[in-house]
Amino acid sequence: MMWKLRALGALVLSAHSATAVELTLGNDASVKSAASTIAFGLMSYYTGNRTGDTPGNLPDPYFWWETGAMFGTMIDYWKLTGDTSYNEATKQALVHQAGDNRDFLPRNQSRTSGNDDQGFWAMAAMSAAENQFPDPPADEPQWLALAQAAFNQWARLWDEEVLCGGGLRWQINVFNVGYNYKNSISNGCFFNIAARLARFTGNQTYADWATKIFAWQESVGLITPNYDVYDGVTINREDGNCRETDQIQWSYNHGIYLHGAAVMYDVSGRDSLWKQRVDGILGSTINMFYNGTVMVEKFCEEPGFCDIDQRSFKGYLTRWMAGTTQMAPHTFDVIHPLLESSAEAAAKACTGSPAADFNGIPGTACGFKWTTGGFDGMVGVGEQMNALGAVMYTMINKVAQPLTSDTGGTSRGNPDAGLNIPESSPITLGERVAAGFLTTAVAFSVIGGSVFVML
Ligand SMILES: *[C@@H]1O[C@H](CO)[C@@H](O)[C@H](O)[C@H]1NC(C)=O
Ligand SMILES: *[C@@H]1O[C@H](CO)[C@@H](O)[C@H](O)[C@H]1NC(C)=O
Ligand SMILES: *[C@@H]1O[C@H](CO)[C@@H](O)[C@H](O)[C@H]1NC(C)=O
Ligand SMILES: *[C@@H]1O[C@H](CO)[C@@H](O)[C@H](O)[C@H]1NC(C)=O
Repeated sequence: MMWKLRALGALVLSAHSATAVELTLGNDASVKSAASTIAFGLMSYYTGNRTGDTPGNLPDPYFWWETGAMFGTMIDYWKLTGDTSYNEATKQALVHQAGDNRDFLPRNQSRTSGNDDQGFWAMAAMSAAENQFPDPPADEPQWLALAQAAFNQWARLWDEEVLCGGGLRWQINVFNVGYNYKNSISNGCFFNIAARLARFTGNQTYADWATKIFAWQESVGLITPNYDVYDGVTINREDGNCRETDQIQWSYNHGIYLHGAAVMYDVSGRDSLWKQRVDGILGSTINMFYNGTVMVEKFCEEPGFCDIDQRSFKGYLTRWMAGTTQMAPHTFDVIHPLLESSAEAAAKACTGSPAADFNGIPGTACGFKWTTGGFDGMVGVGEQMNALGAVMYTMINKVAQPLTSDTGGTSRGNPDAGLNIPESSPITLGERVAAGFLTTAVAFSVIGGSVFVML
């Protein structure tokens, strides 16, 4: 009996190691193969291209913005690995969710979209333009114009009145919770896109906006002199000032400003102030979001209360750290080893089986924590996307720089995109009520006094 059990054990072990994600860093074939396995697991969550489903939607419990973030990741996946398997689904989703006005504010999502939700889709379109992702036919929305549409709308929403001296609100609609909140991620999307549009088009207006947005973030204390990045400020109902700062720090806020600052460093011809900002944010990022050499979502990972959205943030920090090495090459020697150590740790967390709701290859589901040397049992789009980013961005130095219109980027733009929106039918009372319920439910899930759920 004894020998039989042992033999069985050996069999299970070898089956296990045959399906775990093998990764040899520095070996492109190995990295691509690992990325391919994880990407397959990620895209197995996506049902939007099935007959009867809506392109660009992930099933519950994922919010709409996360699909935009996922397709942004898939554009980079294609760029880094050359694997075109998901390009059709990606293009279909982006074009469909551009919506009637070609601005990533489709009516179906109007009850819940904030500026940041729109932002993650717009950043995916920007990546498509920069990486020469196949252009849609001429009568369909174009990548560059989509990013410009979001930019133009944000510039119009920028609050120059007494209210905190500027800044974008979190929400677009007055009836959504979060309308009185100006947050780093919404302004970060604006900053990041402005910087990248400046670089892509050479139009100084975008660069001026990027400078202004960063200065505003500093002026209200959302970016501190130590380059910490706080979550947001609430507009005081009495005097319209911004004093109540939510000081919680999320990895994606650091990442989005780090990368935007690096793009501005490039755009400005390596200006020393932008270098100081890049180096400052990078330093605070490493202090805050690394456990030794492995990335952690500082505030919620260890205690174990990260929500669905927050479980995807490490993936964006990874994306933007990698992008930073392209724009500010002096950061490569600091960032690349951190990308590699996290990749190694993340791959070890991709051994999940069985894992509920995971439809990828059994034994390759990725967990959330990378510090444990194994699988922690948490799976989902965020976990899978984080691990994909961790692995694939180690190849960032093997691919070409993001393009500009001068270096081969062909995506067609429109400086006035997004501004000629027909007076659409007003949001109905029913929609207002539904939105009220939705945001109330979300507000109740707030932890630690922080409004952090992105709508
Ligand atoms: C949906 O996209 C996947 C790739 O993610 C592809 O394998 C599948 O065939 C597509 N399904 C349809 C119905 O187009
Ligand atoms: C809006 O919802 C309808 C009904 O589900 C769907 O047919 C349509 O494709 C959706 N539009 C977008 C842009 O998601
Ligand atoms: C770092 O990881 C170790 C191992 O999982 C854990 O015990 C420790 O609490 C972590 N520290 C932080 C700051 O996350
Ligand atoms: C530069 O961008 C601004 C802001 O969108 C726009 O108004 C202006 O027309 C652009 N200039 C050119 C030459 O495209």
